Amino acid sequence: MASKRPNTEAKRPNTQAKRSSSKTPVAADATDKLAALEPFREDGAEAFLTTNHGTRINDNQNSLKAGPRGSTLLEDFILREKITHFDHERIPERVVHARGAAAHGHFQVYKPLSQYSRAKFLQDPAVKTSVFVRFSTVAGSRGSSDLARDVRGFAVKFYTEEGNFDLVGNNIPVFFIQDAVKFPDLVHAVKPEPHNEIPQAASAHDTFWDFISVMPESMHMIMWVMSDRAIPRSFRMMEGFGVHTFRLVNERGEAHFVKFHWKPLLGVHSILWDEAQKISGKDPDFHRRDLWEAIESGAFPEWELGLQVIDEADEHKYDFDLLDPTKLVPEELVPVQRVGRLTLDRNPQNFFAETEQVAFHPGHLVPGIDFTADPLLQGRLFSYTDTQLIRLGGPNFHEIPINRPVAPVHNNQRDGHMRQTINVTRTSYEPNTLGGGCPMQAGQQVGGFVSYPERIEAVKERQRGEKFFDHFSQATLFWNSQSLTEKDHIVQAFQFELGKVGVAAIRERIVGMLQHVDRDLADRVAQGLGLDGRTSLDGPLNRSVPADANPKDYQPRRGTLPIEVSAALSMASTVKDSAKSRKVAILSADGVDGSAVAEAKRLLTAAGVVPKVVAPHGGTLEAADGGAIAVDFSLLTVGSVLFDAVFVPGGFRSVEALRADAMAVHFVKETYKHCKALAATGAGIELLPPESSPAKLDDARAQAGNGRPGQTDGDPALSTGGDAQVSKVVADFIKAIARHRNWDRERTAQKVAA
Ligand code: HEM
Repeated sequence: MASKRPNTEAKRPNTQAKRSSSKTPVAADATDKLAALEPFREDGAEAFLTTNHGTRINDNQNSLKAGPRGSTLLEDFILREKITHFDHERIPERVVHARGAAAHGHFQVYKPLSQYSRAKFLQDPAVKTSVFVRFSTVAGSRGSSDLARDVRGFAVKFYTEEGNFDLVGNNIPVFFIQDAVKFPDLVHAVKPEPHNEIPQAASAHDTFWDFISVMPESMHMIMWVMSDRAIPRSFRMMEGFGVHTFRLVNERGEAHFVKFHWKPLLGVHSILWDEAQKISGKDPDFHRRDLWEAIESGAFPEWELGLQVIDEADEHKYDFDLLDPTKLVPEELVPVQRVGRLTLDRNPQNFFAETEQVAFHPGHLVPGIDFTADPLLQGRLFSYTDTQLIRLGGPNFHEIPINRPVAPVHNNQRDGHMRQTINVTRTSYEPNTLGGGCPMQAGQQVGGFVSYPERIEAVKERQRGEKFFDHFSQATLFWNSQSLTEKDHIVQAFQFELGKVGVAAIRERIVGMLQHVDRDLADRVAQGLGLDGRTSLDGPLNRSVPADANPKDYQPRRGTLPIEVSAALSMASTVKDSAKSRKVAILSADGVDGSAVAEAKRLLTAAGVVPKVVAPHGGTLEAADGGAIAVDFSLLTVGSVLFDAVFVPGGFRSVEALRADAMAVHFVKETYKHCKALAATGAGIELLPPESSPAKLDDARAQAGNGRPGQTDGDPALSTGGDAQVSKVVADFIKAIARHRNWDRERTAQKVAA
C-alpha cells in the first residue's frame, strides 16, 4: 500500500494564491503594460500544489491504482488532468518567423511630432509608451539556429493610450516580392523541400533559387540577404525597417508619406559566414542569449526611431514607386530624421505566455498613422489575423495578457473559444436604446479612427504600376555602395548558396540574372561555381507573368537614380564608438600573470565590456603569484566564435600550457582569422599566430627576428606590450573592440590555418 506522508513543510503556505489569473486586470499606471501584466503573473511561492480547479494535491508521485501493482483507475482525476494538459501543451508555430526572442521596454519621442501625426504617443517627450519587441528569423522552425543566413524580423508593439500600434518590420528595408499573392510561393520555395524536409533554416537549396531565378523583382532583396546583414552580430546591432511606405496624418487631416527606420545606438554589425556556421553548433541560441544577457546585465539595447518624410506632392517625383516594397528611398534623397528612442529593459518572465503568444499585425493602427496601397502591405493586412486565428486557437487571442491593449476595449463582439471577458450588458448590438446606445462611436475629437480619404479613380484589374518593373537599379546601387570586404562576402555568399544547388540550370540562371545587377559580381560568382560568366538565361528573364499576358510587357526596365552610391547602405559607415556589452575571452592557464588578469578585467568592466576567463580546465587557476582565479568557461565548452575579442595575458607557465593545447592555439588563430581584436602582454604574445605579427607585415622586422612587444603598426586590432604595459595595451584593445573588426586583415588572415 502506498504510504501516507505527513506534510513536513516548516512554513505554512499562503492559503490564497498571490496572484490569480481569474482576477480582473487592474493596472497601477493605466498605460504601463508591465503593470497591466501583473495580475496575470503566478509564481507558486509558498503555495500548495493544486489541480487546475484549486483542489490541493496530496500525492504527485503515484497514480491511483487497484493495489500497488494494479491497473490505474480511470477515477484518478489528478492524473487525467495533468496528462491531458500536457498532451495539449503545444500550439502551431508561426508559419514564418517561428524562431524568435523578445523583450519589454519603452519608447519616447524627442519632440512633439504634431506637424506630421496626431498619434498621441508621438506628442509628448515626457510620455513613456510601453513596448514589446520580438526579433526573429523567417525560414527556420522554432528550434532552429539563430545564425541562419536569413532576414530578421523586428516587430514592435506599442501599447499606446489610444490602442496598440504594431510596427511589424524587418532588418532589411525591402522585400522579395511586390505583391502579397506571391507570398505563399516565396515561403514554400524557401522552407525545407517538401519531399524530405531538408534543409532546415537555410535558403541554400534548389527550390529557393529556382523560384528566385525566375522572379527578377527579388534581386534587390537578394543582394541584401547575400550580404552580411543576414548574419547580424546581435539583435541589438541591427537596423529595423517598416519596409512599406505608410502615411502620417496630422490633426488637420494633412498626410505625409513615411518610411520607418530603427537605428541601433551600438551601430550595425555583422559576423562572418564561417563564424555563423560554427556558432550554430557551439551555441544555436547565440542571439537569444545575447539579448537576454545584455538586458539582465543592465546594458539595455537602444534604437532611435527614424522617419523619412515625403510630401504627398512628391509621390511621383522618383523613378521608383513609393508603393513598391522592393525599393527603398535612398537616405541621400530623403534624410532620416531621428525622432525618438526605444529602450529594451526587461526580459519576459515566461517565453510561451509572452514571446510565443504575442500576436503582431501591421493592421494594428492608431489615429495619426495610416496605410498606403502597397500591394504587399494590403495582403499582409489580411494574413496576420487569419494565421493567428489558427495559431492561437480562436477569435479571442486579443485577450491573452501580452496582446491586451492598455487602452480600454468595448465593443459588441461576443463569445467564441476561450472568451475571458464577462460582458455584463444586455445589448450586444448597435444601434440600441436598451443600452443607451453604448458603447458609442467616437468622433475624431475624442480619438475615433478615420481612414485617410485617399482619392482613388481606377479600373478593377490585376496589374502593377509601370515603375514596379525596374528590378535592378537599386540592386546595383546596393552593390556599388558596399565596401571591398562587403563585396567579397556577397560574392562568397552567392558561391556558397548556389554551390548547394543541385540543378546546374538554376545556378546558371542566377548568374545570368546577376549580370543585370553588375558584370563584375556575376563574373566573380560564376568563377567560384566553375562557370564562364557568359551564362545566358534559358528563357525569358521574368516568368512571373499572367497566363494571357504578352511576356514582352513584363520585361524589366532599368530606372534611373540620381545617385550612384549610398553610404547608408554600407555597414562600413556605421557607428563604431562603443565596446559596451562586447564579450572578451581572457585566455589563461595555471601560472598566468594574475595581476594582468585582474587589471584587464577591471579596465574592460569599467568600459562596459564583459570579460570571461577561458582556460583548459574549469574551476580555478593558480596564478603565477599563487593567487586563485575563477574560470568562467573551459575551452571544451566554448569557442572563439562566441567572443568579440581575445586577450592573452603573460605568465610563462600559462603560455607554455596554452601553446601545447591545440584548442587554445586554434582559439587564437580563429580569432585572428575572423578579424577580431586581439591583445597580449608579456609571454602571451608568443601565442599570437605568426601571421599576426607586425613583423610579418614588415619583412625587415620579421627577418631581424627581434620580437614583437610594443609593435602594433600595421594592424590596429592587435595590441601587444610588455608585462608592465597592461593598461596601455587594454586601452588600445578597447578601442579596437569598438571598431568591431579589422576587415582589412581578411586577405592575409585567410592564410592562417584555423
Ligand atoms: C515587408 C514584408 C514583410 C515583413 C516586414 C514581415 C514581417 C514579419 C514579422 C516581423 C513577423 C514576425 C512577427 C512576430 O514576431 O511574431 C511576421 C510574421 C508573419 N508574417 Fe510577415 N512580413 C512581411 C510580409 C508578409 C506577407 C506578404 C505576408 C502574407 C501575405 C506575411 C505573413 C506573415 C505571417 C502569416 C506571419 C506569422 C504571424 C503569426 O503567426 O503571428 N508577411 N512577418
